[in-house]
Amino acid sequence: MEETFDFDHFESRLPWGQIKWDPAELEKTFGTQDVLPAWIADMDLKTLPEVQEAIIAAAKNGMYGYTRVSEDVIESYLRWQQRRNGWSAAADWFRFTPGVVTAINLLLLSETEEGDEVLIQRPVYYPFADSIQQQKRTVVNSPLHLKNGRYEIDFEDFERKAASPQCKAFILSNPHNPVGRVYTEEELRRLGEICLKHHVFVIADEIHSDLIFPGHRHVVFASLGRDYAENCAVCHAPSKTFNLAGLSFSCILIPNQARRERFDRMFARYCRAHPNFFAPVAAKAAWDYGEDWLNSCLSYIQKNDQFVREFAENTWHGDVWISPLEGTYLQWIDFRKLEPDPERLRQTMLYQARVAMDEGSMFGAEGNGFERLNLAAPRKVIAEIMDRIAAALR
Ligand SMILES: Cc1ncc(COP(=O)(O)O)c(C=O)c1O
Repeated sequence: MEETFDFDHFESRLPWGQIKWDPAELEKTFGTQDVLPAWIADMDLKTLPEVQEAIIAAAKNGMYGYTRVSEDVIESYLRWQQRRNGWSAAADWFRFTPGVVTAINLLLLSETEEGDEVLIQRPVYYPFADSIQQQKRTVVNSPLHLKNGRYEIDFEDFERKAASPQCKAFILSNPHNPVGRVYTEEELRRLGEICLKHHVFVIADEIHSDLIFPGHRHVVFASLGRDYAENCAVCHAPSKTFNLAGLSFSCILIPNQARRERFDRMFARYCRAHPNFFAPVAAKAAWDYGEDWLNSCLSYIQKNDQFVREFAENTWHGDVWISPLEGTYLQWIDFRKLEPDPERLRQTMLYQARVAMDEGSMFGAEGNGFERLNLAAPRKVIAEIMDRIAAALR
């Protein structure tokens, strides 16, 4: 694929208080500022020119009053879903929240009761468990299994846990953060059938669903059929795809009317937010004009992925394993053969390599000895990160 955007360009984000590079934030999170950051999931790559121009044009208006998500913005999102995923959603299923994690919390409140069990699949994005615990629900883990170099779902274990009378919801991460799996239609159907059979509501967190690599296809959970759709909420956003996380805008699709009404009551009670004035403007430009940019960006990220794999192979000769990247821009790297002690691995990465990744144990004990590397950065930054890691692990 032709690359027509300059993703090699590096520009400091320091003046803008962005968390990934902010010295105070690094100090608070890692106990050191002297690190190259490769942690939080946003990009060191500039979004498409049309989005920047739309924001600048809107900024010139000078009046940044309360804003709603207008019908034409929802139409842009629906057309994007139709084009990218072949999914036809209805406009009245659409709900705005400032973030997917906010939506997960509201959905836990609207679909489950205190003390109910909620299923997750570790290693997985840690705010899932945090949200479940914050809402005084109980985390139930059905871990993914690493078999022959691929993470697999243990359906028997999943069904046993889903069958518990207290189990009321399941939070799916697809594509899966951090292991990079894009679940097949068959896998999703099996999960969906188990959830229908045992009355377990599905919160399908598909925030990374635009970030899919060749050979894989994203299947929107609600597109599996009417029963599946009525038993779920799908969480999308332009934030990961187009590097718009700072605009706080996500799209929650709830096909079932009664569930939507329950969700609306929780939104009115606990959220009552309006979109950031710039968010619908940016999102619409991204969905309307972002296809070429996204394809180029994915091709750049894929080359970063290949670069790291070749580097690892040439440096550690099979002693470092990297989960195949089917989707997301997050690489899941197994350092256990080189450093079996997770605490020593953490210290080596932070204080010797001076690289800040998300360490695997944050995603559950299944992640001990792993690190999550954010690939959405100019290649020279990725190369510097790898050089530093190689020097520290020598
Ligand atoms: C799986 C997953 N869900 C949700 C989020 C965050 O969503 P938001 O910032 O919209 O709350 C992330 C960010 O990394 C993520 O990886």
